[in-house]
Amino acid sequence: MKITGKTKIVGIFGYPVKHTLSPLMHNAAFSALRLDYCYLPFEVRPENLKEAVEGIRALNIRGVNITVPHKEAVMDYLDELSSEARLIGAVNIIENRDGRLIGYNTDARGFIKSLLMDAKTKVKGKRVLILGAGGAGKGVAVACAMENAAAITIANRTADKAERLTEYLKGQFSEIPFSAISLEKDRLPEVIADADILINATSVGLKRGESLPVSSRHLHKNLVVYDLIYNPPDTPFLKMAGKAGVKKAVNGLGMLLYQGALSFEIWMCKRPPIDVMKKALF
Ligand code: ATR
Repeated sequence: MKITGKTKIVGIFGYPVKHTLSPLMHNAAFSALRLDYCYLPFEVRPENLKEAVEGIRALNIRGVNITVPHKEAVMDYLDELSSEARLIGAVNIIENRDGRLIGYNTDARGFIKSLLMDAKTKVKGKRVLILGAGGAGKGVAVACAMENAAAITIANRTADKAERLTEYLKGQFSEIPFSAISLEKDRLPEVIADADILINATSVGLKRGESLPVSSRHLHKNLVVYDLIYNPPDTPFLKMAGKAGVKKAVNGLGMLLYQGALSFEIWMCKRPPIDVMKKALF
């Protein structure tokens, strides 16, 4: 990569940001297509987020990805939001369109695309069980609702949070049956038995020693299991699915790839070189 006076910049705002794989993926894509762009990580503390966003305009940065912990807070500083970003209540990419900052959410479509490409599974007509009712759980639930899942259940350690999320979703997608359960409740095995797709959107598996909210004896072989976590690739959740003999069990690396590809498309107005991005990431 050659940086010149004409090189344009994109990047990522996060705190911390040092673990991000996005620069690898995007810079590989720029090199492959000979685009004079460079993707940089920016460590932005929460108290500096507003100034950092103003800096996108001031420095004429083409756009940035937004990661933890800024996805919700950043919405206050943008000029426009896509309908998906508004629905999910989170932004993971900003486009600087001639000084207007537009926020999008490509996580949801990235998830759906990964499910299709990596697990050969369509959400339409499927019964979905989502573990977790935080930001990630909400994004996945909206994605599945937009794809016309037959039913969506959200199970969360803090049951109130799952209730609140399903109430919100019922207001947005009146045609889809939503229900909320506690992770602790005895109902979980029964809901898993009835589900087609099980998604781990909790943070369990990121830290060592946390016990998984479900056990392998509750799973059935035809279940499609998706873990939003991807590091290490063979996550504790996927190991558990393997023990149960589940045939389709996928980690969240594909979601990272496809949300990145969609970000690339928004900034560059070009088809992303998916294979190049995938190779860089995997
Ligand atoms: P994210 O934006 O990644 O979703 P988050 O909003 O902090 O992060 O949400 C983390 C999710 O993981 C929540 O659903 C949380 O459950 P609570 O709402 O009860 O806190 C879930 N979670 C975290 N640690 C957990 C654990 N040890 N067991 C079960 N669920 C856990």
